[in-house]
Amino acid sequence: MGRPRGGDKQRKKEHFYQAAKKHGYRSRSAYKLRQIAKDHKLLSGVDRVVELCCCPGGWTQVLKEIDSSLQIVAVDLEVMIQLEGVKFIQGDILDEKIIERIESLTGGTVDLVLSDCSPNVTGQWDLDVVRQISLVEGTIEIAHRLLGNKGKVLSKVFQGPGFHELLQSVRKKFNSVKLIKPAASRKTSAEIYLLAVGPRGRSPHDES
Ligand SMILES: C[S@@+](CC[C@H](N)C(=O)[O-])C[C@H]1O[C@@H](n2cnc3c(N)ncnc32)[C@H](O)[C@@H]1O
Repeated sequence: MGRPRGGDKQRKKEHFYQAAKKHGYRSRSAYKLRQIAKDHKLLSGVDRVVELCCCPGGWTQVLKEIDSSLQIVAVDLEVMIQLEGVKFIQGDILDEKIIERIESLTGGTVDLVLSDCSPNVTGQWDLDVVRQISLVEGTIEIAHRLLGNKGKVLSKVFQGPGFHELLQSVRKKFNSVKLIKPAASRKTSAEIYLLAVGPRGRSPHDES
């Protein structure tokens, strides 16, 4: 498994690409979140969300569409075109100062952490996977720090070198871990989504 095949022309003809254009979604990736949210009741009991690597904002649009009252803090290296009611931070999710800003904007505890991070690709698959997995490790650390006891984290992961070790480590940190391949994720793509619920090893004083 590796990168999606096919050129730009083929990509533009593709069903989810066309659907996203037609419905005004900023990314075809919006359909992945829509499906996961529906199939896994992702937003049930959720008021506060942190969305890592949010640009151009397709997932953020879906969140607002499903529940306009959600409190969302969204982060990306790039600038996101503003969406009403979303607090946006431009910066690196691996930077401690940015994590502290997320913490201060959320008030410390959230119900859901979302992460659709992809590094700038170098063309060397193994290196791209290592860099993507380090973004997932950063996501898991942020989630462990910010989530309440019943909190959830959904993160894209590239299945490549380091994937199984990552999975083992997430299983130690959360009560349940599932892998999800939504229909909008190309079969030829190595990406998969990891849904982990209930951070372990929290003090009894932590908020639920
Ligand atoms: C596939 S896009 C996310 C698409 C988004 N879910 C949507 O539906 O619009 C991946 C994003 O990861 C961001 N990214 C990569 N590394 C990052 C980092 N270290 N910190 C913050 N954002 C990062 C990129 O800037 C890019 O916007």
